[in-house]
Amino acid sequence: MGFNTKLIHSREFEDQFGSATVPIYQTSTFKFKNAQHGADCFSGASDGYIYTRIANPTIRALEKNIADLENGYDGIATSSGMSAITSVYMALLGTGSHIISTASVYGPARGVLEKDFSRFGVEADFVNTADIKAIQSAIKKNSKVLYVETPANPTMDITDIKTCSEIAKEHNLILVVDNTFATPYLQKPLELGADVVLHSITKFINGHADIVGGIVITKEKILYDKIRHMMVYMGCNMDPHQAYLVLRGVKTLSLRVERN
Ligand SMILES: Cc1ncc(COP(=O)(O)O)c(C=O)c1O
Repeated sequence: MGFNTKLIHSREFEDQFGSATVPIYQTSTFKFKNAQHGADCFSGASDGYIYTRIANPTIRALEKNIADLENGYDGIATSSGMSAITSVYMALLGTGSHIISTASVYGPARGVLEKDFSRFGVEADFVNTADIKAIQSAIKKNSKVLYVETPANPTMDITDIKTCSEIAKEHNLILVVDNTFATPYLQKPLELGADVVLHSITKFINGHADIVGGIVITKEKILYDKIRHMMVYMGCNMDPHQAYLVLRGVKTLSLRVERN
């Protein structure tokens, strides 16, 4: 399937009635099939359809749709772009670890590291990530994550994702890209070597200014499992009604981006 076909079809959605669009499963809780099903949902070994904070069919349809657009393994939808960012920080950083980030990154993505994650012993440096030497000289023994926002909001500063991925591989860093401004229509960070891509879905992906939301997509299962666990345990989940509106909005992504 080409990009425009994926926008409207994505992976097949099947329900018992053969619905053409994804229905809104506006439910907090699902019937357990049996005790084992409940246990498997908590461990991640099953579909998770026991409780909407863990998983919900409308939200899963959106997660798979955007993951397909980014050519990623799978997606993790969140209540906002900021909860996508904090789920990633929480999953990938810990006391004594260090993150290097774009200096002109979206303000709260910087502020939460400086004011809040610092209280838990996470170190952060903010550099001009367009300058490869600046990234290289910021790398320390405890560096774990290279986080770039490109184009950055609102400066439109551009970072070369492919070069960052080479540096990240050389130094064993996880490369995270905020792709909110470009959208997967214009830029696919995972194909350029990033490990994790995230969005404020609030912006172009939804495109109708009627919801706030976020999503994280990973290249591999191992990071997907870590970040999904964090999203579920911190309760950063999206709501089914939000997911339905985004599934509707995203269908016109390429038309809207072209038209802009
Ligand atoms: C590039 C970028 N990333 C993240 C965010 C945060 O997203 P949200 O407002 O959906 O929490 C924004 C919001 O403006 C943004 O522009």
